Amino acid sequence: MAKINDNYLKLKAGYLFPEIARRVNAFAQANPDAAIIRLGIGDVTEPLPEACRLAMVQAVAEMGNRETFKGYGPEQGYEWLREKIAQHDFQARGCDIDASEIFISDGSKCDCGNILDIFGKDNTIAVTDPVYPVYVDTNVMAGNTGEVNEKGEYAGLVYLPISAENNFTAEIPNQRVDLIYLCFPNNPTGATATKEHLQAWVDYARAHNSIIFFDAAYEAFISDSNLPHSIYEIPGARECAIEFRSFSKNAGFTGTRCALTVVPKTLTAKASDGSDVELWKLWNRRQSTKFNGVSYIVQRGAEAVYSDAGQAQVKALINFYMENAKIIREQLTAAGLQVYGGVNAPYVWVKTPNGLSSWDFFDKLLHTCNVVGTPGSGFGAAGEGYFRISAFNSRQNVETAMARIIDKFKA
Ligand code: MLT
Repeated sequence: MAKINDNYLKLKAGYLFPEIARRVNAFAQANPDAAIIRLGIGDVTEPLPEACRLAMVQAVAEMGNRETFKGYGPEQGYEWLREKIAQHDFQARGCDIDASEIFISDGSKCDCGNILDIFGKDNTIAVTDPVYPVYVDTNVMAGNTGEVNEKGEYAGLVYLPISAENNFTAEIPNQRVDLIYLCFPNNPTGATATKEHLQAWVDYARAHNSIIFFDAAYEAFISDSNLPHSIYEIPGARECAIEFRSFSKNAGFTGTRCALTVVPKTLTAKASDGSDVELWKLWNRRQSTKFNGVSYIVQRGAEAVYSDAGQAQVKALINFYMENAKIIREQLTAAGLQVYGGVNAPYVWVKTPNGLSSWDFFDKLLHTCNVVGTPGSGFGAAGEGYFRISAFNSRQNVETAMARIIDKFKA
């Protein structure tokens, strides 16, 4: 008889965003006239930059011509895209990252989960609480945790609480952990990390031979020039960190799909016989076996992000969403709510009013304002009593949503 991966049975009911969609759909069916505004999942709404579209149209034309047609591309991504990323995103910031250390993929969510393929089963794994749920759920699926408790915490994971008291940046643990997930600018809290904070993590990781998984999917939203965009801006990070990046949020590729993962060749971890093994070799082997690369057309679209026109258009997109974030911050503050984030990140993290639970506030906003957000408790036990509002939507929808909230909540 065929057997399942029992670890899936440990997972809580549904992945957060499908669960929200289920509740919203039920509400919409019962209230067909409600003009629902979705500020829940961080999904972009504005059109792709023109430079990306034109590059993809050109690539489609090439695919229609025998001379320029492309079949399978390199599993690691085309050299011309990897070179541009290395130059613009890393070397221009003083990061010693070579194009050969960059792997193009179809998403950093996928890579954050897939990376576990190359790590063993008995690592101690640390996540912040609240946290992007993919880090936790993929470890559950991989069998790296025990059972979940009533608070939603899995046995075997080390939870590092983040809150207003520590500026939503985790304290360095006083125990040894092998794998650490960090996300800056942070999803869900919108918090950022200083170079000093990241240096403390790099020092910790090097002292303990740990590996940091650094999720920088939102780096393009940083406007404060003192804040690091990449962990490789921190001395020593080449010896302890893997970085995940994406074109989803900066260039609007959530539906187009293109991302990248950086695995420095200087990064090693232990085999069970005690020998040091290069992680680059394992990830390269994994990708070559399980992945056939991102389509040529999409990679040409991603490459156009680095053209002069592409850079200007991406900047305009980011400014647009960050203006939304500013409006959300200002309006929610005017409504008497306590807000965090939303300055160098497209997420605003809100304290729920009157001691409401995260899901109660979700229901209240949905039913009284027809506005959808994301309950903080969906990101972990320490997110209870908080709520995330995404700045990814049209200006009109953001303004309407905020007007409805002000109307209901302003004393
Ligand atoms: C979110 O809303 O947290 C994001 O959309 C998640 C993602 O990018 O996968």
